[in-house]
Amino acid sequence: MTSQNPFIALKEEMDKLVIGHEEVKISLLLGIIAREHIYVEGPPGTAKTMLAEIISGAAQLKFFFYQLHRDTRLSELIGDLVISKETTDTGEVIKQKVVKGGILTAEICLLDDISRAPGESLNVLLRILNERKFFDEEIPLLTAIATSNPTADEYYNEPLDPANLDRFVLQINAQGLSYGKRWDQAREVIKLYTQRPLEYHVPARVSREVFDEYYKRLGSLDIPHEVQEGLANFVATLIEDYGCNETNSLISDRTFFVKSLKIMRAHALLHGRDACTLQDLNALKYMTVFRIPEEVFLQLDQIIEDLTSKKKKTGTGGAS
Ligand SMILES: Nc1ncnc2c1ncn2[C@@H]1O[C@H](COP(=O)(O)OP(=O)(O)OP(=O)(O)O)[C@@H](O)[C@H]1O
Ligand SMILES: [Mg+2]
Repeated sequence: MTSQNPFIALKEEMDKLVIGHEEVKISLLLGIIAREHIYVEGPPGTAKTMLAEIISGAAQLKFFFYQLHRDTRLSELIGDLVISKETTDTGEVIKQKVVKGGILTAEICLLDDISRAPGESLNVLLRILNERKFFDEEIPLLTAIATSNPTADEYYNEPLDPANLDRFVLQINAQGLSYGKRWDQAREVIKLYTQRPLEYHVPARVSREVFDEYYKRLGSLDIPHEVQEGLANFVATLIEDYGCNETNSLISDRTFFVKSLKIMRAHALLHGRDACTLQDLNALKYMTVFRIPEEVFLQLDQIIEDLTSKKKKTGTGGAS
């Protein structure tokens, strides 16, 4: 392997074709490195599919794309249902078997409009994604990206319930450039498309083995005591100082005290570090947008900044 950070190469490929959407790009990388799933909410046409395609092309990962709908059946997600007819001594027998495909063989999968899937299929789907197993067999999946339109009345969909939403460790609110009023980036997109054809080819830059190697390293990456304290203080600050509670937030012990460590370690690897530093508390931003009230999320940069500069807020000192 070259000494160059392989994730920079993937980021370069995304940056060549998609302007802005920095948070989606970073969360895709964190999801692949940490092997955690991603929930992206955003209006149609904001390059969600394109980014997932670019990263699977550049990383040479097997990609599965599926648009969920109100009648989605599980069999559509796990491969092809093959029906055969055999003639035996006792007559004809119709057999049905699943040729594995879909989420069972993919390394990255994009599940569009997750909130439209009927409960029964959704539950089994989420169980497979969560356990990363189908019966006793492990699946090669690195990350599943579930998308949803904003759940406002006009979009005819319902939000995922909190227990399901919590399975997606990484969560991103991807506003489009226009509604986000990012006019400079909008101009860049227009310029880009005046210069290049609509079809695009993504060169292979990284291979699956690289992710396997980094995943091994991830497990043993050091998280120094001050970073552990920073994480404990982060959660304590949200609850003790910013009024987050069971009714307005989704702060599960699993996500914040266990999964967050993987995401912070992935953040360290992404930045070329071989141990976590307080800077990796910034990775918590990619986990919180739909887990805490909007007005608290808007102050998150400051909250993390205070923790990384070790200015402790009152009320959290004893909680760590
Ligand atoms: N920020 C951007 N930079 C470059 N191209 C963009 C950007 N936003 C949108 N596009 C263009 O718009 C197209 C639409 O994107 P894409 O189909 O990936 O959106 P989507 O978010 O998956 O939409 P949907 O919610 O309808 O599935 C892209 O293929 C790309 O050509
Ligand atoms: Mg799409």
